[in-house]
Amino acid sequence: MTRKISFLSYKGGVGKTSLAVNLAVCLAREGQRVLLVDLDTQANASIWLMRLKRWNRLNGTGVGALYSIFNPGDATLADCVIRDVVEDSDGRQLVPGLDLIPTTFNLVDLESDLEGGNPDRRPSAIFREQLKEIEGDYDTIIFDCPPDTLKASQCGVFCSNEIYVPANADTLSLIGFTLLGEKLQKLRWASSRYGGNGSEAPGEIRGVIFNCVGEEADIEVAEMRMRVRLNQFRGTGQAAAQARIFKTRIPHTRMVERAVSVGLPVPLLSINGDDTGDVRTDYHNLAREILRDDPALVADEFERNVAGF
Ligand SMILES: Nc1ncnc2c1ncn2[C@@H]1O[C@H](COP(=O)(O)OP(=O)(O)O)[C@@H](O)[C@H]1O
Ligand SMILES: [Mg+2]
Repeated sequence: MTRKISFLSYKGGVGKTSLAVNLAVCLAREGQRVLLVDLDTQANASIWLMRLKRWNRLNGTGVGALYSIFNPGDATLADCVIRDVVEDSDGRQLVPGLDLIPTTFNLVDLESDLEGGNPDRRPSAIFREQLKEIEGDYDTIIFDCPPDTLKASQCGVFCSNEIYVPANADTLSLIGFTLLGEKLQKLRWASSRYGGNGSEAPGEIRGVIFNCVGEEADIEVAEMRMRVRLNQFRGTGQAAAQARIFKTRIPHTRMVERAVSVGLPVPLLSINGDDTGDVRTDYHNLAREILRDDPALVADEFERNVAGF
């Protein structure tokens, strides 16, 4: 079964895009077929993976960008997929198996569309229907969401089973996490009224990932506070029973900033003399932790344990 994962938080700049992009690359390098869907109108993931020149052409025409499935509505998600998106300057594929559905700046119009598109249908319903056509091609689909739960973000929220929340070691991340838990709960109640067959519920919060952890950060205290809130959410059903704080933390490092500026995912960078540590290993460890979190694998383990007992 295809795993569908959203990176979502109510705080901007915490690491949704960098985690989504680098995790997608690590999973593809583990042999998975991966689709990254850019749901943020800022298009950071698209620009990072396509590089600016190629993305500028797309942004100019809008043909093949996510917004075109809503308005004018003449394209399908399948038309928007860029296969093996990461290329070097000679067009050689650098990460086979990683596809992208790119976005452009006009995705913001989805939030205020008064004309065009299809006013009778929620964007997440259109998106969900079209995703069904292609999801069987992938082991994992990753949604890079904006820092809200508006219409574009809802495409990820309602299509994913698993939601991971990136956090920094600060109070604002904790506040953002609290708001997100409440908002998802409201969406859950609202979706039960949408009259569907009950299949359209938001994904569950499955974990918190600390990102951009500086040496001076009091990570133990930040983690302890986050754990208290996560436990509350598990108790109220706002997070999955098995939701947890990931062991792997991504440190603050210049390698991530360098990766963005050269237009390469972190796992493809080589180490510079002034790099401290190797964050490439951290992203790979995170990918392995997420792979172990696979509901199918957990079920397998459970069966084995029961059989062994
Ligand atoms: N581990 C890290 N170390 C250093 N800088 C980081 C790290 N993770 C993210 N950043 C930088 O922080 C900024 C915000 O990260 P991003 O992933 O775009 O967050 P979001 O998608 O949540 O807004 C970007 O400029 C990115 O390069
Ligand atoms: Mg982002």
